Amino acid sequence: MTDPATLEVQFLADIAAAPDVAALEVVRVAALGKQGTISLLLKSLGGMSPDERRTEGPKLNALRDTVQTALTARRAALEAAELDERLAAEKLDLSLPAPHRRKGYVHPTLQVMDEMISIFAELGFAVAEGPDIEDDFHNFTALNFPPKHPAREMHDTFFFSPDEAGERKLLRTHTSPVQVRAMRSQTPPIRLVSPGRTYRCDSDQTHTPMFHQVEGLVIDKGVHMGHLKWTLETFIARFFETDQVTTRFRPHHFPFTEPSAEMDVRCDRSGGEVRIGQGTDWLEILGCGMVHPNVLRNCGIDPDAYQGFAFGMGVDRLGMLKYGMPDLRDMFASDVRWLAHYGFPAVAVPNPASGLS
Ligand code: PHE
Repeated sequence: MTDPATLEVQFLADIAAAPDVAALEVVRVAALGKQGTISLLLKSLGGMSPDERRTEGPKLNALRDTVQTALTARRAALEAAELDERLAAEKLDLSLPAPHRRKGYVHPTLQVMDEMISIFAELGFAVAEGPDIEDDFHNFTALNFPPKHPAREMHDTFFFSPDEAGERKLLRTHTSPVQVRAMRSQTPPIRLVSPGRTYRCDSDQTHTPMFHQVEGLVIDKGVHMGHLKWTLETFIARFFETDQVTTRFRPHHFPFTEPSAEMDVRCDRSGGEVRIGQGTDWLEILGCGMVHPNVLRNCGIDPDAYQGFAFGMGVDRLGMLKYGMPDLRDMFASDVRWLAHYGFPAVAVPNPASGLS
């Protein structure tokens, strides 16, 4: 039998000399594998006399433990060295574009809302929100709607059944009630935009029962139509990313503004597409006006001291125009093919510095 001390010297030398994990495994199998030298010697203990076993047993067990410990240590060292080598050799270029494996998309409406908010934020507007379920006071009365105004009628407004007190809640028909909530809870100067869902009983190519608006409100001393016009023209130019925006303000009527106007932008409709900033057609974009003195009074603001302007625009509609979507109803049909086509990657967060779209 080979002397355990000699074997130990030999195996420890082999272990130290193993250049990689695979070579080390060969040494392990030769020593401690099923048919390995040390394993076979341990097996041979069974055939020895008790005296022999008493002297050889501890030596062989010690040999096995020493070799096992050396193997484990050498393996750890080799693995660490291999990892260091890979880390030094492999490189990952994080600036490369991600492969086309996007599974989710940002809905165009949300993207457009973020674009709008980022433009208005840069102009110094804060963001305010209000509830989708409103009461008659905030949606109509405080906004100076006369009691029999047609917009209160069933065909426009989704009303809930009256509660025990006889009060009929409703789904807000516009974001203007947020104006009322803001004016009643803040002191001027106020400068805010309010994005959100709005509801009207209507459905065709350019109307859906649920749609989105962004409301704007500015209340301060000495505010006039010139401020309104500049703000909206600046917004439209940035939103459509062109310097060539021409706008037209047409007189209109809203109960809560006086004077009131609708703003159109010049566009070209030839060729089935709408192009902003060229052509001879006009497209209605939004409603606006100077806040009516009655509304200021209803909200506890003195109309002799403060003036304000307000505007409201359809988010989905502006998105259709900017990104060329032909039918508003598709926006809310949850068709994944449509979403994959018109949706935005989640990392494309709009901000004025990196570009909006
Ligand atoms: N609330 C109006 C609408 O939904 C839009 C609007 C807002 C008009 C603010 C004037 C001022 O049609």
